[in-house]
Amino acid sequence: MRLNRRHMLAGTAATFAVTGGVPVMLQAEAASDGFTELKIRKVPRVILEGGKEARLWTYNGINPGPEIRVRRHDQVKVRLINGLDEPTMLHWHGIRIDNAMDGSPLTQNPVQPGESFEYVFTAPDAGTYWYHPHINSSRQVEHGLYGALIVEEKQPPADTEELTLVLDDWLLNDDGTINQKAIGDIRMAAHAGRLGNWFTVNGKSRPRLAAPANRRLRLRLINCANARVMNLQIKGAEPFVAALDGQPLIETRALGTSPLQLGPGGRADLMIRRGSDEIVLANLNQNNEPLEVAYIDRTGDPGAADTGPIAALPVNGLPATLDIAGVTPSELVMEGGAMGGLAGAKLRGRDVDMRELVQNGMAWAFNGVAGMTEEPFASLKKGDTAVFDFVNKTAWPHAMHLHGHHVLPLTIDDRPIANQDWRDTVLMSANSSMRVAFVADNPGKWMLHCHMLEHQAAGMMTWINVEI
Ligand code: C2O
Ligand code: CU
Repeated sequence: MRLNRRHMLAGTAATFAVTGGVPVMLQAEAASDGFTELKIRKVPRVILEGGKEARLWTYNGINPGPEIRVRRHDQVKVRLINGLDEPTMLHWHGIRIDNAMDGSPLTQNPVQPGESFEYVFTAPDAGTYWYHPHINSSRQVEHGLYGALIVEEKQPPADTEELTLVLDDWLLNDDGTINQKAIGDIRMAAHAGRLGNWFTVNGKSRPRLAAPANRRLRLRLINCANARVMNLQIKGAEPFVAALDGQPLIETRALGTSPLQLGPGGRADLMIRRGSDEIVLANLNQNNEPLEVAYIDRTGDPGAADTGPIAALPVNGLPATLDIAGVTPSELVMEGGAMGGLAGAKLRGRDVDMRELVQNGMAWAFNGVAGMTEEPFASLKKGDTAVFDFVNKTAWPHAMHLHGHHVLPLTIDDRPIANQDWRDTVLMSANSSMRVAFVADNPGKWMLHCHMLEHQAAGMMTWINVEI
């Protein structure tokens, strides 16, 4: 396994490195037994420009955590060491992983303070993924616990530089410290979730990055925010979307003038032609005003004009379409939240009214149940084709995430979706429905939840079972 330290590994990395100028992040300490260690520790770091230090929770002292980089079909070996005073665990978001290594409360016991856990798995798909805790996620992710997991293609695109851009928004007090009062705030959880007021890219405010003008550029964007839906503009370039949530599109697609929308947990790989224009990354705020969040200087002479086609990335083996004839859809009705009129729901097996739900930190329900259920939402046999109808009867968008699989979104409000791309996290608008399909080819217990972490904590969480 290689972390992001090619500058130090020039000799060995040169044989397969796709890039030489990835921003230098501190590397994880690889122990002598081949495990990369991710040690959680609290460190003071300035997040707000000119502000006080915030007390971050970090993997190995840095935010984001070290970028973990392997090639497709390589083994990932990570030892998580919990230096917090509360339990944690590590989830590998978007990886079609061996269930035992998924790092969810369905698959392992929490890693207690001072204890460690070893994750060993093979990365089945090339693409852009990430890792984050899966217990107290709203608090732990908000404090800075997340990092990129990059699985390189066996033959990465030629002559292409790449930059990983880990995006987050933080809810800071005026002095720059992390707003603690809002953590666990039920009102926030019943609205859009914890939206931040300060944006960082790779842990920095408005960083200026560099990439050579005479190579194409691949941007790997990862939305690690607790709840913010990002609407990203890429100025100074005409990007092509090459992959979403790690999975390549059949053909690359020009982004055009519309912003790139990424729900929490979502990723996109963008390809940009050679050229010397400065690239400005901006996020549209709630009022549709672009907030500049990062700059990329393209250095040197771009050489001859780059007009050639932007080739698709090699697919990971997911089919282009799915035949769902004869499959009975399973319906997941999403209810609750502010302006939702939810009267009550089942909570740990008991019918309770809204007031009691709120007293228990709950505001949302899936099929009338708030929080985890004993029974899975769907019981499938390995190899089954499954169709899920997500019916969002709430006044809020949600980012539905299924573990261990990618799903193919087919329709929105019963109308076929023009671009059907494999996703592990689908963003749904308020009061809408979406049909998704997938092949349940990965046995185990898999969580299905909203990736707005406060929504998840406040009830939007269930699971599916895939039997061998
Ligand atoms: Cu990225 Cu269940 O999570
Ligand atoms: Cu949600």
